[in-house]
Amino acid sequence: MGPFEQLQALVAEDMAAVNTLIRTRMASEHAPRIPEVTAHLVEAGGKRLRPLLTLAAAQICGYQGTHHQLLAATVEFIHTATLLHDDVVDESDKRRGRPTANLLWDNKSSVLVGDYLFSRSFQLMVETGNMKALGILANASAVIAEGEVLQLSAAQDISTTEEIYLQVVRGKTAALFAAACEVGAVISDAPEVHAKALLAYGDALGIAFQIVDDLLDFGGTSATLGKNIGDDFRERKLTLPIILAVAKADTTERAFWQRTIGKGEQREDDLAHALRLMDGHGTLDQTRQKALDWAEVARAALGPLPDSELKSVLADLADFVVSRVV
Ligand code: IPE
Ligand code: IPE
Ligand code: MG
Ligand code: MG
Repeated sequence: MGPFEQLQALVAEDMAAVNTLIRTRMASEHAPRIPEVTAHLVEAGGKRLRPLLTLAAAQICGYQGTHHQLLAATVEFIHTATLLHDDVVDESDKRRGRPTANLLWDNKSSVLVGDYLFSRSFQLMVETGNMKALGILANASAVIAEGEVLQLSAAQDISTTEEIYLQVVRGKTAALFAAACEVGAVISDAPEVHAKALLAYGDALGIAFQIVDDLLDFGGTSATLGKNIGDDFRERKLTLPIILAVAKADTTERAFWQRTIGKGEQREDDLAHALRLMDGHGTLDQTRQKALDWAEVARAALGPLPDSELKSVLADLADFVVSRVV
């Protein structure tokens, strides 16, 4: 059993309750389109990695109660809302092995149901009455949106630096991982040092996760991943493998990146050529190494927490995230 399955097993009872919460709260009596769209996405599965982290963090901090389940469901609702919006923005047509909601219904439905899920997530977290947890999740929602908008302005610009990329990734992905972990500690009234450790773990884990997501967009398999490959290149996103390749480009290569990413003039075999260039400079390997470095940061961040089985599972999860293919 790998660390992900171990994590699932260790919080299985709580996660069953969270799944029930997700299913009951995603419904709407007044607009049938809402349960149609949400069921399409939610029943397709998804790893449920973020709510698992919330439950694990609470368990590590010795929480006794049920409010961590509300927070875990909140986190998955926020995630689901961002996916609905993200697939509109990225014009993606495949998610969790199914056609996206924007393809099956339309952009309007995805945007509005995404808004609905965001609002439902706030209702869920308010039920905990924990102002500090509310603050953390409200803040994360704002930071995610900032990250997605920052990415919009960085897209198509081949002078985008690794620093900007990191800022985008921290916002659009790591902020929710960090919040998911931190609220588990906060709901448990854990000491500040433990909350900070979990926050730092989630941040680094989220960065590693997104770097690998960007790698999989070039090297993964659509069937396993449940999303289309090459979307980032088509969308002219400056992800790390490309940023590193642009940094090493000679004049001809630079012209290629400027044409395909800068100007968006893409031909049939351009993605294959981009892969060859990245391979030639070893930037896919370099990218993987950077993800591994962040995984190490995540592992180390857990240091201040008391030793437990769950703590070592979280430590191993960092490496799992880098080697994942789904
Ligand atoms: C997808 O996240 C969005 C990113 C941050 C890359 P996941 O890969 O966790 O998506 P699901 O929930 O398992 O489908
Ligand atoms: C995911 O960004 C981040 C959010 C959903 C906020 P991506 O656009 O890279 O993720 P995928 O590849 O569509 O899952
Ligand atoms: Mg996307
Ligand atoms: Mg992606």
